[in-house]
Amino acid sequence: MNSADTWNRGAKAYQRHIKGSAPLGPVYQHFATDVAAHLQATCTEPYRVLDVASATGEPAFTLADTLAGVHVTVTDIAETMVELAEKEGCDRNIRNASFQVANGEDLSAWSDGTFDAVMCASAIFMMDAARALGEWKRVLKPGGYVAFSTWQLGEKHQLSGLVGATMARITPGTRPPLPTQDLTKPEPVEALLQAAGFEDIHYRDMNVPMHLSPSEVEDLTENPMFSIWIEKNAPAGPEREAFSACALKTLRAVAHERSYLKDDGCLTCPVQGLLYFTALKP
Ligand SMILES: C[S@@+](CC[C@H](N)C(=O)[O-])C[C@H]1O[C@@H](n2cnc3c(N)ncnc32)[C@H](O)[C@@H]1O
Repeated sequence: MNSADTWNRGAKAYQRHIKGSAPLGPVYQHFATDVAAHLQATCTEPYRVLDVASATGEPAFTLADTLAGVHVTVTDIAETMVELAEKEGCDRNIRNASFQVANGEDLSAWSDGTFDAVMCASAIFMMDAARALGEWKRVLKPGGYVAFSTWQLGEKHQLSGLVGATMARITPGTRPPLPTQDLTKPEPVEALLQAAGFEDIHYRDMNVPMHLSPSEVEDLTENPMFSIWIEKNAPAGPEREAFSACALKTLRAVAHERSYLKDDGCLTCPVQGLLYFTALKP
């Protein structure tokens, strides 16, 4: 369902999505500012940071731009994402980053105690979270810092609510494919962090309104939030094109009913709630 192949196919659209109107820029900046502050206060240069599930390079690149003494390792399970990230890093002349395909649940390419910090934006809910947290802790040095974000749901995450309502209208009873598990409330995530042996656990709410241009709205059908469901319901070829067109038309209709869609075709979801968690390896 949430296979590397799906993300490989969606990689170019994802890169356009995060570069276009930069809807997630404040999330990446939040990671970078927070992780940089921790590193500067408690570690010595060069700081080594692993970014799990970076897609086309974030929040790794924002951190690399923020802090000269850091070296970030950009990873993702989807090789096309990592290739695009590497090209982007080269185009932007980011010298303090390296790139590697890796599953966030299996970091066997790295020894115990390699990193000062591990971060992961909006992807832990696609993994076996207990396994992933165990691996992140293993590769952290003692005192190392973990920082990751999850989505809230329902009224608190209007874009996923919109996508879910669109799916329900076309294929009643369908559950949105993402997030794949319920890490949307603080308590279960805190329990997972405790079980993995982290301490000094904190979380905070983040709200990052989502504004998409008309072409970014069209790109949503290539985003795995939507494309996993489209691919499941329509085989490749003309049938898939027709299904995608119907999905997009329905999404616009639901967005219009919810007053998210403007006359110029732009989509604005004012409430996109995330939870940002941090903890320390003892
Ligand atoms: C919603 S994107 C988030 C990407 C990026 N961190 C950001 O905030 O823009 C999710 C990413 O998680 C990756 N992913 C999914 N499962 C993974 C896993 N088990 N290990 C590593 N990456 C994974 C996907 O390939 C995709 O690039």
